[in-house]
Amino acid sequence: MKLGRLNHVGVATPSIEQSVAHYRDVMGATHVGDPFDLPAQGVRVCFVDAPNMQVELIEPLGADSPIVKFLEKNPLGGQHHVCFEVADIEAARNWFEGKGARILGDTRIGAHGTPIFFLHPKDMGGVLTEIMESPAQAH
Ligand code: CO
Repeated sequence: MKLGRLNHVGVATPSIEQSVAHYRDVMGATHVGDPFDLPAQGVRVCFVDAPNMQVELIEPLGADSPIVKFLEKNPLGGQHHVCFEVADIEAARNWFEGKGARILGDTRIGAHGTPIFFLHPKDMGGVLTEIMESPAQAH
């Protein structure tokens, strides 16, 4: 497996609306997508574009959302995960399994409509890491 580009940094927030205002007004972001629900992952998502990557704002969707606990510990929100692209998600999964890295759950369709999986932060130097198959148009 070959490590691909950084696609996005996931930032948990109690309010996408407030975070979007922050990225526009304080950070000078000019391109912000429309928020949308990702029920399979229990989150509402909104992408803020920077020239070389995106910030993925994630807000809990429902009480059993996987980021509810994170926000209890970090009430302001905060950096939640990083996401790297790979060419082939199955090959990447086999690669990480071979390295003994724990994969969290099944491969599923992520916010960009391509397959993704997450790797346990304890096997990733403390960083919750998302691996995503590159969108076809990126090649
Ligand atoms: Co993500």
